[in-house]
Amino acid sequence: MTDHQAKTQATTAVEDLTEGEARAELARLAEVLAAANAAYHGADAPEISDADFDALKRRNAAIEARFPALKRADSPSDQVGAVAAEGFGKITHVVRMLSLGNAFEDQDVADFATQIGKFLGQDARAIRFTAEPKIDGLSLSLRYEQGRLVQAATRGDGEVGENVTANALTIADIPQQLTDAPEVLEVRGEVYMSHTDFETLNQRQAERGGKPFANPRNAAAGSLRQLNAEITRDRPLRFFAYAWGDLSTPLAETQMGAINRLADLGFQTNPLTKLCNSTAELIDHYRSIEQQRAGLGYDIDGVVYKVDDLDLQARLGFRSTTPRWAIAHKFPAELAWTRLEAIDIQVGRTGALSPVARLAPVTVGGVVVSNATLHNEDYIRGRDSKGEQIRDGKDFRIGDWVQVYRAGDVIPKLADVDLTKRPEDAAPYEFPEACPICQSPAIREEGDAVRYCTGGMICAAQAVEKLKHFVARKAFDIEGLGAKQIEMFYNDAVLPIREPADIFSLQVRDGETLARLKNRDGWGEQSAGNLFQAIEEKRTIPFGKMLFALGIRHVGETAAKDLALHFLEWDKLAETADRARPAALAFRQADLAEEEERLAAKTAGRRAKIKETRDLAITDCEVPANAAAAWEDLIAIDGIGATVGLSLTDAFANPEERAAIDRLVASLTIIPPEAPSAESPVAGKTVVFTGKLEKMSRDEAKATAEKLGAKVAGSVSKKTDLLVAGPGAGSKAKKAADLGIETIDEDGWLELIAGL
Ligand code: IVH
Repeated sequence: MTDHQAKTQATTAVEDLTEGEARAELARLAEVLAAANAAYHGADAPEISDADFDALKRRNAAIEARFPALKRADSPSDQVGAVAAEGFGKITHVVRMLSLGNAFEDQDVADFATQIGKFLGQDARAIRFTAEPKIDGLSLSLRYEQGRLVQAATRGDGEVGENVTANALTIADIPQQLTDAPEVLEVRGEVYMSHTDFETLNQRQAERGGKPFANPRNAAAGSLRQLNAEITRDRPLRFFAYAWGDLSTPLAETQMGAINRLADLGFQTNPLTKLCNSTAELIDHYRSIEQQRAGLGYDIDGVVYKVDDLDLQARLGFRSTTPRWAIAHKFPAELAWTRLEAIDIQVGRTGALSPVARLAPVTVGGVVVSNATLHNEDYIRGRDSKGEQIRDGKDFRIGDWVQVYRAGDVIPKLADVDLTKRPEDAAPYEFPEACPICQSPAIREEGDAVRYCTGGMICAAQAVEKLKHFVARKAFDIEGLGAKQIEMFYNDAVLPIREPADIFSLQVRDGETLARLKNRDGWGEQSAGNLFQAIEEKRTIPFGKMLFALGIRHVGETAAKDLALHFLEWDKLAETADRARPAALAFRQADLAEEEERLAAKTAGRRAKIKETRDLAITDCEVPANAAAAWEDLIAIDGIGATVGLSLTDAFANPEERAAIDRLVASLTIIPPEAPSAESPVAGKTVVFTGKLEKMSRDEAKATAEKLGAKVAGSVSKKTDLLVAGPGAGSKAKKAADLGIETIDEDGWLELIAGL
């Protein structure tokens, strides 16, 4: 028997394998398939034929189907061509790698500049910006210590990326040694592939019987993320530097200066980077880059604008995932026409019914698209959320000829429909009024664009999606309990997991002998033991994660963290939600006219008006004072408004949901969040700003205070620790004086926080 036969021959039929044999066979298949994969994507000729490769993959899948618990982290089933991400070590970024907010219209650019001016409390017209192409590749962070390249990491989720140091070392544009560099320097930029190199690579792939890459970005990503760095060396990757992370000494005082410094250090920087004095100049440069786009020789998908002054960048800081000082002005999306074959309804964890377009596959901007979001029923009908016509009121019908577009990485969308190609028998789409999964009524509330299934916990789709969210990476992240296992356990007759608390009683329900799980198909003593241990490890959980994991509508990761920081203890949150309930209901009952006025006020930025309406809504309905106080407490938390407040109080007041939450809480140890910057003098203090601030805007003062761990409140009370009063401070300063609260002026505040 040749070596080749030994690799491909299936010795024992899958049904006859014992658990031990299956484990060994999966290990062998992972190795053989990975080697074949590397050869296929790499420089070598393919080692085995496509048919043999497919047969091995099928055998692997069949064994996994019989023994799901034996599925390996590096399972070939999860790999589309390239090697699994699990193969790389993980690197936690010292400075997070963020994404950028997007602008699509010129007006968005003007708004971006205005907001910056407002935040800084100065005339936006005096602020300078850089403008440079947005490279369509993948970002990479390069760490230099004493001038030597010591580490390269992909962006990953922004906090943790993959260690691709060996691969980065093979890229010619990336210097391995710098002279006169700061002691610690993290250079960030984009790895990309030029059009000509991409064509050549694809030709070479074709000659060797390999699959072509869909576009230069995929080719660059696939080439960088190779476990065998020799394959990367063989791929013509390039690198543009445009940003930095951890730094021992500043590079310059301006963005432009820093980019020039990076160029002096030996990095490629983009020659189309330009300093602009106004938004008009930014837009001019955008148009000019757009004109040159086709001839650049590499893919770009927009133009990035950055505040030039690095002190101002530091003052502007970040929102949860994007900087306030930069924005990406995207080029219009690419378009394609295809047939709308069906409309499916998906039910999410909050019960939202989301229509999805199933399309005849079509290539849009180098990627094959066969699904697109349809948003909601109005959108299908040709209306926006206010009932105004969109697409001139044209609706979408099954069988229609529709235009698809992709904007950046987002899910494809439908832009238009060609009525001349509408089949004669195409009927208007009727949006279901019952949940397609549990048949409960699906209700759409006044003013809401989305229809929700009212089945709650009885709706299997909602329950399963909620559980999947509960175990997701940013929530409980239990090893060995992912989406697939949740589906299996949800439908399990003997050991079901129907709600989060069931996860934590799994071992007890299984009994001391682990008799039930370990004898089940695909589970053995070890895999069952591993799962129980992974569950035990998560029995102690940070407050914010626990709250986020519940999947309460509008309570995302950031809101959950904000709430945890405010309440510190779970019981305090629950008590406040309970007490606030009557006020929350009163708030909701405020009549529609008031609601509309509130919305109008909000759009016009008249925050005072919003506050007034809120107060009215509460006092009118005569709710107990302590309820009103609890409600105010809740919605006054920075980042938490009435929307989150209502959703949270709804969840806590729903008897079934609350019982499930309480059962879960009883099985966990919830740990309070760490207050940020505990060493700052304002950490944990409640600060109120009043009067006119002259050196910064109210927003900036508030953001800084919060960054330093303070709570910022709108009014002075016994709980206030510090009042920062500018000129014109009136009743608040008087009240603070009456209550004996420390009061300082703006300079005093700047002094207090200096150097932090
Ligand atoms: S600046 C804190 N500049 O776009 C912001 N990003 O959508 C740091 N990108 O993850 C990014 N060209 O991968 C910046 N000239 C450029 C860029 C650029 C491409 C990518 C980058 C980032 C993504 C955000």
